[in-house]
Amino acid sequence: MTQLTSLSIQNFRNCASAQFELSSGLNLIVGNNAAGKTAIIEAIWLLATGRSFRSQKSHHLIQHNTQSTTIFCETKSSYNPDEIHKIGIQKTLDNTLLRIDGETIKSHGPIAKLLPIQLLTPESHKLLEEGPKARRQFMDWGCFHQSEDFMPLWRNYQRGLKQRNHALKKRLPKEQVQLWDQTLVENAKQIDVIRQNYLDELTPYLITFCQALMPEIETDVVCQYRAGWPKTTEDLLELYQQNFAKEQQLGHTQYGAHRADIRFKFNNQEAMNILSRGQQKLFVCALLLAQASLHEKVVNEPVIMLIDDLPAELDEIHRTKLLELLQILNIQHIITTTSKDLIPILNKETSKTWNIELGKVCSS
Ligand SMILES: Nc1ncnc2c1ncn2[C@@H]1O[C@H](COP(=O)(O)OP(=O)(O)OP(=O)(O)O)[C@@H](O)[C@H]1O
Ligand SMILES: [Mg+2]
Repeated sequence: MTQLTSLSIQNFRNCASAQFELSSGLNLIVGNNAAGKTAIIEAIWLLATGRSFRSQKSHHLIQHNTQSTTIFCETKSSYNPDEIHKIGIQKTLDNTLLRIDGETIKSHGPIAKLLPIQLLTPESHKLLEEGPKARRQFMDWGCFHQSEDFMPLWRNYQRGLKQRNHALKKRLPKEQVQLWDQTLVENAKQIDVIRQNYLDELTPYLITFCQALMPEIETDVVCQYRAGWPKTTEDLLELYQQNFAKEQQLGHTQYGAHRADIRFKFNNQEAMNILSRGQQKLFVCALLLAQASLHEKVVNEPVIMLIDDLPAELDEIHRTKLLELLQILNIQHIITTTSKDLIPILNKETSKTWNIELGKVCSS
């Protein structure tokens, strides 16, 4: 299984230096408010994705009065015990250095592939409430890990979209806008097939985890995929041509793969309208567990789950249920909490606990 075996953090937020030798199951980080718990989760997320979920500015992440932050980990695969990787990121104010096994790499893609990490935070329920971006990112996480073709298609699409939007915004002549239509259409159609297939494969898992976490809901969830253009559209290229005047007015491309979305429905009603806040959080857990299970089946490696402030997410019964499922699925999990008593330790042998105080970590 993909597993972080060790983690080291230097000069990240309020944490000057921290080392962890991680366990294969539960890794619990306990600390009071402002101790630096979210900072640890954020540092791992930054290493895995190249981004923070709190700030896009490097100077927010680098510890005050220092020049750079470094996060480094070692990973192990359980299917092949010889497959060990050393992965690192160093961020200065104006530069990012990425390394895998001593080699400098240019893009974050290879690290993201080696570190399939999922994140649950007290804000995760926004996946349902907010605009389609978070739902697209959720879907594209799976597409990225399961289809080699997805990333190049998405990059080509983005490049074309940027140029086309630039031409629309500058009100360049029609031909200069339409120059990009073919690129957009070709890539969008292939992205569409990958996303549609991914959701089709994901849905049975999602139904299973919704039943496990929310047995009180009697109907199964339905995932309605939206491609990013009207269902009635037979020819996307023609749609672009017909819609040119409107898009020129808007100054951007109205339809395409960048507008895809998913609607989750129970009994034909939008999930966010009928689920309680707690159920919304459980639904997001079900989405992540479904994604984790499908990932394990297709890629043959389980994901690693980061959960920031688990008690803020779920009540005692559902915390235990989630922890049981993570254990059954063999998912390494790194969880933060303000109180140790709120987290049941289901298996002592695969669990470890640390205390964190003012950015200083010590094992307990
Ligand atoms: N760049 C930085 N340098 C030094 N300290 C920082 C930096 N950025 C944030 N901090 C401080 O780090 C501390 C830890 O914040 P963090 O959000 O990780 O705490 P937390 O343990 O998750 O708290 P809570 O339980 O309230 O969520 C805060 O006191 C914050 O002010
Ligand atoms: Mg926090």
